[in-house]
Amino acid sequence: MHLILLGPPGAGKGTQAQRIAAARRLVQLSSGDILRSEVRAGSEVGRRARSFMDQGTLVPDAIITEVMLAGIDRVPREPGFVLDGFPRTVAQAEALEAGLAARGMRIDAVLNFDMPDGDIVRRIVGRRTCSNCHATYNVEFLPPRSTDVCDVCGQRLTQRDDDREEVVVTRLRTYRAQTAPLVNYYQGKGLLRNVDASAAPETVEAAVRRILDGLGAVG
Ligand code: AP5
Repeated sequence: MHLILLGPPGAGKGTQAQRIAAARRLVQLSSGDILRSEVRAGSEVGRRARSFMDQGTLVPDAIITEVMLAGIDRVPREPGFVLDGFPRTVAQAEALEAGLAARGMRIDAVLNFDMPDGDIVRRIVGRRTCSNCHATYNVEFLPPRSTDVCDVCGQRLTQRDDDREEVVVTRLRTYRAQTAPLVNYYQGKGLLRNVDASAAPETVEAAVRRILDGLGAVG
């Protein structure tokens, strides 16, 4: 199964990607997590990506496409992967489709996580992440058992550099201008499945499960 999670910043793509990956034994490939690892490692990709990420704008298509196709090449062919945060432009989607076709693969479904902008800032400002295992929490909605400590691996939780309110505004604007056109793009290909991302995490998870079970029944 090869899935794409699409949606604005803070819609819960990473949270649900982790749950889908665990439930279906898929590999989660998060473009944001991969880029942040490159930044921390001080690699050439990380150095080139950093200023875009700090401002809340998109890393150039050629860089991220190369990084993500390399990520796809590293994961086992079966049972598949869930792409979280990629593609984010029509050019990236076209490059992904061509790259997958060259590898004898294709996308099975695109889950579109939709929610109003107003709730997004609250979610993002409350987010805490584990830089070790990438588990995601929220001080308001999904708190860890101990304050600022990861339930999974015990590492300290941190706040992302780009989760400041002024950067979030730019990230939202970037999403509407450059990524939202992918909704029509994938609708036109018959791959889009809409998910109400404003519901509680367990409700969103159940909706996703129903969609994926339906795909399994068809495929
Ligand atoms: P990236 O890391 O991908 O950030 P994003 O898309 O802005 O998405 P987020 O990680 O902010 O949100 P999410 O939807 O995963 O939500 P989460 O599950 O964490 O990208 C960062 C930067 O990298 C970009 O700005 C860009 O510069 C660059 N980049 C990345 N990919 C790129 C690409 N393809 N092309 C070019 N540049 C790229 O949830 C958010 C919070 O809400 C958490 O605290 C969570 O606990 C909580 N929460 C989750 N679900 C719920 C719920 N149902 N109810 C209540 N709270 C919830």
